[in-house]
Amino acid sequence: MNKQTELFMTDTLPGSGTPGGKAVGTSYAHESAYLHVTGEATYTDDIPELQGTLHAALGLSQKAHAKIVSIDLSKVQAVPGVVAVLTAADIPGENQCGAIIRDDPVLAEDLVQYIGQPIFVVIANSHDTARRAARLGVIEYEELPPILTPRAAHAAQSYVLPPMHLQRGDAATAFAAAPNKLQGKFDVGGQEQFYLEGQISYAIPKEGSGMHVHCSTQHPSEMQHHIAHVLHVSSHDVLVECRRMGGGFGGKESQSALWACVAAFSAARLRRPVKLRADRDDDMIVTGKRHCFAYDYEIGYDNNGLILGARIDMISRAGFSADLSGPVATRAVCHFDNAYYLSDVEIHAMCGKTNTQSNTAFRGFGGPQGAIAIEYIIDEIARNLGKDALEVRRINFYGSSDGDGPDARNVTHYGQKVEDNIIHALVDELEATSEYQARRNAINAFNASNTILKKGLALTPVKFGISFNVPHLNQAGALVHVYTDGSVLVNHGGTEMGQGLNTKVAQVVAQALGLQLDKVRCTATDTSKVANTSATAASTGTDLNGKAAQHAALQIRDRLASLAAQRFGVEVASIRFADDKVSSGAHSIDFQELVMLAYTARIQLWSDGFYSTPRVHWNSKTMQGHPFYYYAYGAAVAEVVIDTLTGEWKLLRADALYDAGEALNPAIDAGQVEGAFIQGMGWLTTEELWWNKDGKLMTHAPSTYKIPAISDCPADFRVKLFKNSNVQDSIHRSKAVGEPPLLLPFSVFFAIRDAVAAVGNNRVNPPLRAPATSEAILDAVDAVRAAIQ
Ligand code: MTE
Ligand code: MOS
Repeated sequence: MNKQTELFMTDTLPGSGTPGGKAVGTSYAHESAYLHVTGEATYTDDIPELQGTLHAALGLSQKAHAKIVSIDLSKVQAVPGVVAVLTAADIPGENQCGAIIRDDPVLAEDLVQYIGQPIFVVIANSHDTARRAARLGVIEYEELPPILTPRAAHAAQSYVLPPMHLQRGDAATAFAAAPNKLQGKFDVGGQEQFYLEGQISYAIPKEGSGMHVHCSTQHPSEMQHHIAHVLHVSSHDVLVECRRMGGGFGGKESQSALWACVAAFSAARLRRPVKLRADRDDDMIVTGKRHCFAYDYEIGYDNNGLILGARIDMISRAGFSADLSGPVATRAVCHFDNAYYLSDVEIHAMCGKTNTQSNTAFRGFGGPQGAIAIEYIIDEIARNLGKDALEVRRINFYGSSDGDGPDARNVTHYGQKVEDNIIHALVDELEATSEYQARRNAINAFNASNTILKKGLALTPVKFGISFNVPHLNQAGALVHVYTDGSVLVNHGGTEMGQGLNTKVAQVVAQALGLQLDKVRCTATDTSKVANTSATAASTGTDLNGKAAQHAALQIRDRLASLAAQRFGVEVASIRFADDKVSSGAHSIDFQELVMLAYTARIQLWSDGFYSTPRVHWNSKTMQGHPFYYYAYGAAVAEVVIDTLTGEWKLLRADALYDAGEALNPAIDAGQVEGAFIQGMGWLTTEELWWNKDGKLMTHAPSTYKIPAISDCPADFRVKLFKNSNVQDSIHRSKAVGEPPLLLPFSVFFAIRDAVAAVGNNRVNPPLRAPATSEAILDAVDAVRAAIQ
């Protein structure tokens, strides 16, 4: 047994790696866990460099909005070790790497639109030389007025895309007629992805017009297309490969393009391998982040807290170009309901064009920004009515019946019927296991007898739509090879970024062929093996690639089953694949032996596989359709204590319950829930992006940008998977887990708000912005004190 196998055999669940065990549903360790912890796992920067490899660095704009008057790169060129300095004029093909709209130049030509926009490339014999030389460019600008915030963009009608609009019923009339009304504003900050491995590409010119690019990317196919356009070659000339990323979190879905294109065109130009690796500061200054959002809302509700009419404007900070801002805004609009039925609703979503980094995907992809708005609103309604927010949440939940018509309260504002609603049962279970009511009473007692420290508690739900809301992206391919020694190699279009995709896909293939997991290995994602793949995003990696790999494996299994049936003289239907054997009744043969027989009989032992998600459709004009194959659900309870003198706070306990359906790998899924919870908590509390008045991002390193540390994790952290089965025919009836748990720490934010409200005996709504930094908490405490006086 090799070390990896030992590690796979965790004893958390019965059946792992043992005869009769099931490959799916078992808590195997991550396929690279051993390599990760020993430091052996190869990331792009670890690939041994070929002789002659050069290193590139980017020269960046120092102005947020300006015309370029002149560029003088003579000092850069003069640095010993600098081999070349390239500008947009040196790009052989199109100077463009926009994800959807062609508004994203690789290198700025005569206009710069944010501080940090790349203008030129220095290529030198060392990384350090390239970086130092890049600072010596002399650029003369003619400054233009910058727009820096979403509200300023909205005031100037400055958008990267036309505004979106979704309406159901008549929210204005419902608002006018409602017995209670709420009007307000809320602001939520953005978030840096902070993948541990920064953006990187290593481009190696091949014979003729060939180019091989190792790239840390969630989207190898799109990188291939961009590189082909930039080099003015065909897609078949370009091979993009990614073995693994040290995290992507959405930041490498579209924005790996700049790095891939620059490395590739530099390599093509110099006919030498070129590596472009971003240092953390450059990575943070150059690349886009989670969109911050500003909201203005008007809500009518009854005396129980039932929402009767909801109108909201959502304005995001798109940055200087469209990138993925359109789909992010669409997902925000489609998640404004979170788990709640909104009968009469009107949403306007605007992607504000600002002179800042072009914001992009980040875990949840706008879903968190849509859902937190309704949670903020419900939190306000509850306090206005003197009720526990959980009670108000409950009465607004989607109905759990399958009936039709408005009474069933089960159709979303975008027209999709919610067919799998389990939020009632899930929240009931969590309320009980977290001892919510008893702790609520204990906290009330604590707050009554403490003036400086205040505690807060909140339970928040999540409903999250799974699928790309651009229907054609919901497709995947795979290639499965069975070698004559019985080992299996799997290639699929998804990318591994730590989330465990390759482990789960290997489990699916092992299950299909009745093999132990260590017989199956997934290799690097490679555009020459599976073509035209979608990004590994929208949490669909396993749903799509698992099904495609299963489709491939089952074709091989069918061929092997026919051969075995022939040999045993039995019906094909009676053939079983389990425990590395193929059997029927008393007949049995080792998988490997049967494979060898199949080879000799000239039977194809490899297969491709394909999957496209059924049922999904979407009309982007009306914003109506069935964009999601199914919903994943969850809920969390957080208890915090705040210090009203310093604004410091601590998460004392967190309970999370998540619906992963029939979990393919419960340990990996629980890990995803924990990671997403802490990451989402960082977004809503300590992670604050701050631009100065000139538009320069000042928080561009961990010294000034505070992601959660181990000491911020709650000492008491209880993560559980909810017992459920996907009602849709997903891969082994599992559900996606990558993004939805990022919404679970809404509970932390609202627990902090609950604690702040205790300063005013819960009579006033604290104006708490997100992130709830210590400063924001103190501001909210002051506002509550002022309001009650
Ligand atoms: N987990 C780790 N460890 N690293 C990551 O970069 N990205 C998240 C999530 N979990 C990420 C992660 C995001 S943004 C998505 S969309 C999903 O994983 C993508 O993978 P999946 O579809 O295979 O779940
Ligand atoms: Mo995830 S934001 O969909 O890459």
